[in-house]
Amino acid sequence: MEHRTGRAGNRSERLWPQLQIAAVFIFVLIQTSQAIDDIYNPGRYDAVVHDVSGSGNWFPNFKCMDSPGSPKPAGTSPPNRLLISAPNTSGTYPVIQLHHGFTLRIDFYSQLLEHLATYGYIVVAPQAMDLVNINPNAKDEIAQMADTLDWYPNNLEAKLAEIFPNLNVKPDLEKVILAGHSRGGKVAFGLATGVCKSVLSFAGIVGIDPVDGGLPYQQSQPPILPNKPFGLDLPFPTLIVGSGLGKWCAPAGVNHDAFFNNSAPLAYHFVAPDYGHMDFLDDKLNGPFEYVLIADHTCWNGPSRAPLRNFTGGIMVAFLDSILFNNSEFLDRALMNIPHAAPLTLDTPQVTNFISEYAGA
Ligand SMILES: *[C@@H]1O[C@H](CO)[C@@H](O)[C@H](O)[C@H]1NC(C)=O
Ligand SMILES: *[C@@H]1O[C@H](CO)[C@@H](O)[C@H](O)[C@H]1NC(C)=O
Ligand SMILES: *[C@@H]1O[C@H](CO)[C@@H](O)[C@H](O)[C@H]1NC(C)=O
Ligand SMILES: *[C@@H]1O[C@H](CO)[C@@H](O)[C@H](O)[C@H]1NC(C)=O
Repeated sequence: MEHRTGRAGNRSERLWPQLQIAAVFIFVLIQTSQAIDDIYNPGRYDAVVHDVSGSGNWFPNFKCMDSPGSPKPAGTSPPNRLLISAPNTSGTYPVIQLHHGFTLRIDFYSQLLEHLATYGYIVVAPQAMDLVNINPNAKDEIAQMADTLDWYPNNLEAKLAEIFPNLNVKPDLEKVILAGHSRGGKVAFGLATGVCKSVLSFAGIVGIDPVDGGLPYQQSQPPILPNKPFGLDLPFPTLIVGSGLGKWCAPAGVNHDAFFNNSAPLAYHFVAPDYGHMDFLDDKLNGPFEYVLIADHTCWNGPSRAPLRNFTGGIMVAFLDSILFNNSEFLDRALMNIPHAAPLTLDTPQVTNFISEYAGA
């Protein structure tokens, strides 16, 4: 017995250098493999998008509160139409309120909403202005979105119970995340900085190619960027995703670079150089044709939308898993910027933790 054990030991000692070489080889294989990381594909939950009608009033007087008001009474309709995507499995999940871009429709984001929900998030996308009541000043929209947040405490759980009558799908209102694309990013940061106050507080923010105005270096009302490094000093972490071709619709000085430069630690910045401002939307836009026309033809975009949209869903999950659940495995991998691990080529990711550039691969 002893002898045999000894021999086996000797044999594995002899094999050790070969095993090390094999390990290096497998490592290289993983690094160069074409397989993208799981987070950029749907997660383990089933999720679909549900349409919830609002109060139907397009011109309500949303009051911009300078101190938190009170939650909306139980049984009231949300102030605006919502899309809600949530896991079709009983559980308690964080809530992401996602704000759409200027002149866009919440329906255009259904694939991104689903992606997030399949990872265990309840995503609520409220419809803001219509093409007939566009307002270049975002203050009314910020007030409206604060009102939507005020609707959650007494109503969101009941709405989820209506959607999933046989399940117990609950929102965790201690973990509310603000997110927004384009002008919706400005709205999200407007809520985060307290331009209009909600009864809820927040656990994180995501700017998806956010813009603080429509012209280079010209902020629209109300200006959100303080125009100084670390000026957006929020009590929770920030993720900024930018598009390299977005300059026409997200001009210099008011775009993702400016938001990131203004963000205090902890903030992350990922930029997709070969994709554009509308590449976060669904492959095929479903909605009134004038909105579809605007979304499809106003910005300079990449060859297709899936890579940037899948990346954005995945990096949001990585960021949220890190800040909400202390699981930074996916975010750490994303920061390494391993070729082929993401569905597209990225610029070197940046982190503001007093070292401006992450020493990535
Ligand atoms: C949830 O999944 C069940 C079983 O797969 C299905 O019957 C039901 O329609 C789904 N519910 C929703 C709201 O998607
Ligand atoms: C952001 O900051 C970097 C480094 O300080 C600077 O090179 C860059 O021009 C700034 N970009 C914007 C949009 O402010
Ligand atoms: C994006 O994700 C979808 C699943 O949601 C998948 O079918 C598709 O292959 C992905 N595309 C890219 C380019 O990542
Ligand atoms: C977070 O995770 C790290 C590494 O997995 C662990 O060492 C640490 O204790 C965790 N922190 C909390 C607050 O759970």
